[in-house]
Amino acid sequence: MSAFMMSATPGIPSSSPSQPSPTVASPPASLPVRTIPGAYGWPLLGPISDRLDYFWFQGPETFFKKRTDKYKSTVFRTNVPPCFPLFLGVNPNVVAVLDCKSFAHLFDMDLVEKKNCLVGDFMPSVKFTGDLRTCAYLDTSEPQHAQIKNFAMDILKRSSKIWVPELVANLSTMWDTIDADVSTNGSASYLFPLQKFIFNFFTKCLIGADASSSPKIAESGYTMLDRWLALQLLPTVKIGVLQPLEEIFLHSFAYPSFLVSGDYNKLYQFVEEFGKEVVNRGQTEFGLSKEEAIHNLLFVLGFNAFGGFSVFLPGLISTIVSDTTGLQQRIVKEVREKTGSTLSFESVKDLQLVQSVVYESLRLNPPVPLQFARARKDFQLSSHDSVFDIKKGEMLCGFQTQVMRDAKIFDDPETFKPDRFLENKELLNYLYWSNGPQTGSPSASNKQCPGKDAVTLTACLFIAYAFQRYDSITGSSSSITAVEKAKQTVV
Ligand code: HEM
Repeated sequence: MSAFMMSATPGIPSSSPSQPSPTVASPPASLPVRTIPGAYGWPLLGPISDRLDYFWFQGPETFFKKRTDKYKSTVFRTNVPPCFPLFLGVNPNVVAVLDCKSFAHLFDMDLVEKKNCLVGDFMPSVKFTGDLRTCAYLDTSEPQHAQIKNFAMDILKRSSKIWVPELVANLSTMWDTIDADVSTNGSASYLFPLQKFIFNFFTKCLIGADASSSPKIAESGYTMLDRWLALQLLPTVKIGVLQPLEEIFLHSFAYPSFLVSGDYNKLYQFVEEFGKEVVNRGQTEFGLSKEEAIHNLLFVLGFNAFGGFSVFLPGLISTIVSDTTGLQQRIVKEVREKTGSTLSFESVKDLQLVQSVVYESLRLNPPVPLQFARARKDFQLSSHDSVFDIKKGEMLCGFQTQVMRDAKIFDDPETFKPDRFLENKELLNYLYWSNGPQTGSPSASNKQCPGKDAVTLTACLFIAYAFQRYDSITGSSSSITAVEKAKQTVV
C-alpha cells in the first residue's frame, strides 16, 4: 500500500469510497421543511447587483455572511459571478449551502453531478487545455473520469518512493535562496522561491521529469503556469485591484487562451519529451490517448498541484511565522524529538501537533474556497435546522470559508487553535478542503481530491523540514525577515 493510500491520522477510519460523508443523513423527520429563502432578483439587474456586492462592495466572505444573517438560514438562493454582459449563457443562479451538514450533500454522487462545474456554471474555454475537458470537469458518470482519476492516483502511488528525497532536495534549494536574501537584504520575498520549489518538486513527482532538462522551463515554467491559471480564473476571483478597474477589466469577460498558448505549447512539448514514461503508462495502462494523458498531466501539475499549493503554503507559512503564542517552539520540540535528523512519511505520522496545525490551517483558509455541483434529481437537502426541496438541475454552491466556521461543529470557530484536531480527531469528519471529509477516501466513484493525503503529508514534511533547520522564523504572508538557524544543525 502506498504512503498516500493510508489515513494520515491513525485511529480515524477511512469511510468507504462511495459512502457519502457521515454528515449526510436522510433528513430527520423532526426538521421542518422550509421554502428556500432568497431570490435571484430582476433579470440582468439581480445578477449584476450581486456581482458588484461579491467583488466590490462586500467581498465573498461578507457577501455570504450578510445573506445568511438576512435570511436566518445557511441555505438560500443568490447569484454568484461571473454574469452578464459578456458571459452570455452563464447562469449565475445558485442555492448556497453554508453549514457542514448542507455542504456535505456536494459529496454525494447519487444526488449531484459535477459535469463542467468546477468553478460554477461558467467554464473556462477548453482551448486552455488542448480542446479537452480535463478530469476536474468530468462527472463520475463519464467513463473517462475513472480512467484519468485512476491514472492520477497511480502516479501518486508510484512517486511516493521519491517523494521525500525530492521534497528535501528542493526545500534545501528554496531555503538556501531565502537564507542568502535575508542575509544580503535583511528580508526575503519568498513567493517566487516557493513557487519555483512547488513547480520543480511536482514536475519531478507527477511527470517524472527534471525541470532542469529544459533551461526555458527551469527558468520560467512556474510563471507560465501562473499566467495560464490567471487567465482561466480571473472572471471568478476577487483580486483587490482598484475598483471599478477590476470590474471593467478583470470580471467582465473571459480572457482568450491564445494569450498563453505559446507558453502552454512549450509546457506540452516538455512533458512529451521528458515525461515519456508517465505518458506511456497513461496510454498503456489507463487507455488514454497521448494527448489526453499530456493535457491531463499538465492540468494536474498546473491547476491542481501547483495552483493548490501556491495558495495553501503561503497561508500556512504566514500562520506559523506570525504566531506569538510560542507555537514555533512547540513545533521545534515535537519535530526534533520525533523525527531526529531524518524525514519520512512514517516519522511525520507521529507529529500530532504539526498535523493538527496543517488541518487547522486548511480549515480556516481552505485553498479552494468554492465548490459547485448540480442536482442530479429532485431531493431533500437538510441543514442543521431545516429541510429544503432541491429540483433537478439546480446548482448548489458551497463557500468553504464560511462552512469551516460552522459554530455547531467547531468551538470558537473564528480562532486559529493549533491543537484543535489534536484534541478532537472526530472533527476530521468535518474537514472538507479536499471536496470530501478528511476521513474519506478519493476514488473513481467520487470527486474527492486524489491528492488528499499527499497534500497533508507534504505540508507536514514542509513544516518538519523548516523546524529541523531553524529554531525560529519571523515574517509575514509574503516575506521572511529573520531566521535563526538550529543551534544543533540537523538538516
Ligand atoms: C494544496 C493542494 C491541493 C488542493 C487545495 C486541492 C483541492 C482540490 C479540490 C477542492 C478538488 C475538488 C474540486 C471540485 O470538484 O470542486 C480537487 C480535485 C482534484 N485534485 Fe486536488 N488539490 C490539491 C492538490 C492536488 C494534487 C497534488 C493532485 C495530484 C494528483 C491533485 C489532483 C486533483 C484531481 C485530479 C482532482 C479532480 C478529482 C476528480 O475529478 O475526481 N490535487 N482538488
